[in-house]
Amino acid sequence: MDVLSVVGARPQFIKAFVVSRELRRDHDEILVHTGQHYDEELSDVFFEELGIPEPDHNLGIGSDSHATQTAQMMIGLEELVDEYEPDVLLCYGDTNSTLAAAIVASKVDVKLAHVEAGLRSFNRDMPEEMNRILTDHAADILFTPSERAVDNLESEGITDGVYNVGDVMYDSLLWAREEGAEHSTIREYLGVGDTEYLLATVHRPRNTDDRARLETILASLAADPRPVIFPTHPRTIERLERYDLLEMAEENLTLIDPVGYLDFVMLQAGAEIIVTDSGGIQKEAFFLNVPCVTLREETEWPETVAAGGNVLVGADADAITGALADPPRSSSDSEPYGDGKAGETIFRALSELSE
Ligand code: UD1
Ligand code: UDP
Repeated sequence: MDVLSVVGARPQFIKAFVVSRELRRDHDEILVHTGQHYDEELSDVFFEELGIPEPDHNLGIGSDSHATQTAQMMIGLEELVDEYEPDVLLCYGDTNSTLAAAIVASKVDVKLAHVEAGLRSFNRDMPEEMNRILTDHAADILFTPSERAVDNLESEGITDGVYNVGDVMYDSLLWAREEGAEHSTIREYLGVGDTEYLLATVHRPRNTDDRARLETILASLAADPRPVIFPTHPRTIERLERYDLLEMAEENLTLIDPVGYLDFVMLQAGAEIIVTDSGGIQKEAFFLNVPCVTLREETEWPETVAAGGNVLVGADADAITGALADPPRSSSDSEPYGDGKAGETIFRALSELSE
């Protein structure tokens, strides 16, 4: 079958790596990069490191307002769907690239498959939550990472075409943990090979676009005696500059550019605690059994909290400090996200559908 896959942002390259390497065993894949992420360290590095084939098309859309960005992606994607007439349009996660693919597919004769379907944070102020809901309701084939995701879909009346395959990021993490242990030297390079340290990332608009929240988070991290490695998303750098917080951050934290996937997984594996507002990183912390302090009020990955290894602290100074002093520990051996073979399971499901 012909599959047109759409990616655009950092976590989608990691997810597509898992599915693409399986898919290409027996199907033709046309890989389209929307260009949502375009900096070398947010895009190219993943293609090189993970051996993802060069995209057949890069729409080069870049950054803009939600509507402009999504609309421009739709125009480019519609042309490609018309040109290739694929059997399936495959999209990942919850970004604007996901939504653009979903809307285009829903208006033409192509089946829409969504990897990471059924996730809900139940916070409709998050752009990603709207992207998830709209994409799932447009999708014909829904690959969920967990039983809870299946339940979420059922409660919205979606039961057809749902395949609970497990989480593709578990597959990629298992691979990266081995590769990283062999090839990454980032911990030595940063001088934390034998040192206790924290790893932190912040990129959600709710935290970056609110000066008070951002300052509270930085101050709480700065108060910890351990070094804090802080790979900084370009959105966050831009806000730190705008709010005049960059100097304070640089004085107290180890700000570095975003790093490649293998280096990042190794930084996670060696950290005492991970502090983040990322979706993917909460899960990776869970897989690596590293305590996670999540700078949000809710999460679309509640299984990690239920297992005990993740705590939601928002941007509350006392809650952050308390969690750093007494980090959450996973108390269960539950494996809510499958067996690390989601890519293979997706491949089999798509192959059966093509017969
Ligand atoms: C996007 C996704 C978010 C995901 C994140 C992964 C949406 C609505 N958001 O957020 O769900 O968690 O990717 O990292 O789709 N920028 C650069 N270089 C780049 C890309 C972006 O400098 O290569 C800067 C630009 O100033 C841009 C800002 O980052 O305005 C935000 O980029 P954007 O892609 O809109 O959203 P993210 O915050 O990256
Ligand atoms: N990641 C990375 N380098 C970094 C920060 C994150 O490779 O400097 C990886 C991380 O391991 C995870 C993914 O990027 O797999 C998470 O992406 P992000 O936090 O940008 O997005 P989200 O998951 O919140 O959508």
